[in-house]
Amino acid sequence: MISRLSLLFLALAVPALANDAGMRAYEKTLFQWVRGHCIHCHDGRTKEDGISGPGFAVENLSTSYSRIKKYVRFDDIPQSYLVRRGGNMHCLKMYGIDCGTRPEDLRKAISEWWEQGEKDAVRTGVQTLPVALPSTKDFSSISWDLEPITGEKVMRLVMEVQAFQEAKGETRGAYRFRKPRLVGVKGGIHVKGLRFIVNGREDSWANSYVAIDRKVSESAVLSPLVNILPQDKLEGDQLAIQFDLLEKGEKPQCHHSEIFRKEVLAVLEARDCFDCHGGGSNKAEGTPGAKSAMNLEGNEEQVCSTLLQRCDGQSPNRSAIVYYALRGAHHHPRVIPFAYELEPGFASWVTAELAPAATTIQREAPPLEEK
Ligand code: HEC
Ligand code: HEC
Repeated sequence: MISRLSLLFLALAVPALANDAGMRAYEKTLFQWVRGHCIHCHDGRTKEDGISGPGFAVENLSTSYSRIKKYVRFDDIPQSYLVRRGGNMHCLKMYGIDCGTRPEDLRKAISEWWEQGEKDAVRTGVQTLPVALPSTKDFSSISWDLEPITGEKVMRLVMEVQAFQEAKGETRGAYRFRKPRLVGVKGGIHVKGLRFIVNGREDSWANSYVAIDRKVSESAVLSPLVNILPQDKLEGDQLAIQFDLLEKGEKPQCHHSEIFRKEVLAVLEARDCFDCHGGGSNKAEGTPGAKSAMNLEGNEEQVCSTLLQRCDGQSPNRSAIVYYALRGAHHHPRVIPFAYELEPGFASWVTAELAPAATTIQREAPPLEEK
């Protein structure tokens, strides 16, 4: 479910993410080459002979660019699917048509494309240095240094990772990731879109994407979901993280205290969240585990901001607050037994705070006259 959603998002996002430097280099190198050798079967049309392969060599440059990237890996060009698959092996052997190619030519065209611009291309965002992935089944915490991106010495992205499925024969294994958070945040940070990049591959189908759009000023969990990523090599996979956006912003603040008090705070009081997370009207002491994840001590404004940082403006009911408290994500106690206690009112608050445009559209026009 999750991965299918993120694939859908990727597919939709591709045209907008096309980047100039990379595409211009592609136009001068590999594009010429595939247009010269592969169009008989890969230009997206079906010929009289009925042979037609996937349309990566179409006439439209940007379509071709975004499609062909699926078959290329720049960290290990000879292993690119385009190279392994693209030679005479299939043209001549399978279809009896000589497409006049040698793997060396393809390798050369891809490496020229990389050298002449793809390597400098602004990608969809900023990328961390890769970190080695664990081979153990237990979840362990790994982190990526964000200093090269943000200039902030202490800021890191931390996630829990496990090798949850072993490779068996030809079948690749898989990793699972959970609880991504930024630690060492000073002031406010606006973070959008987390993409996982294994071994520098551009191959978007092998990667995974978490659609987030969040303003945080503390180490709030950025997504309550678990993400699965296929193993790439049998050993020694390296994972880099790419953000669509990671920039300084304002500390998140609430502006709709009335809705908050009525629809959210009242539920949290009734369901004793403060017993573990600290604070509340009884000034509960809380428990260390719960407080280190989310500390609800402080005045109403602070509590509101702390909670808001765990909310999803696009889909309020996919917020960490809902997943943890109502659905029992990551073995959190299911402290709210019924969805109706929280969801509609909670969603109206989140929408008011984070997606005000949507509220304006939904709101009915006021009556012209009272009474
Ligand atoms: C005579 C027709 C023909 C020519 C010419 C041809 N291909 Fe193909 N190719 C196919 C067909 C049909 C398929 C889909 C069926 C398959 O995977 O074998 C295919 C599949 C592929 C795939 C796998 C795509 C996928 O999604 O699995 C790659 C990569 C590929 N071709 C590369 C190339 C390259 C590079 C060239 C030019 C040098 C080329 N082909 C020329 C017929 C052709
Ligand atoms: C019995 C104790 C307990 C109660 C009651 C409780 N929690 Fe928690 N909560 C925890 C613990 C422990 C964690 C840390 C879990 C972890 O990260 O593995 C946590 C973590 C969370 C997180 C994740 C925060 C983050 O950024 O990592 C959210 C959100 C959350 N709780 C919401 C709630 C809400 C909302 C309520 C009340 C409706 C509530 N909790 C009641 C114990 C509790």
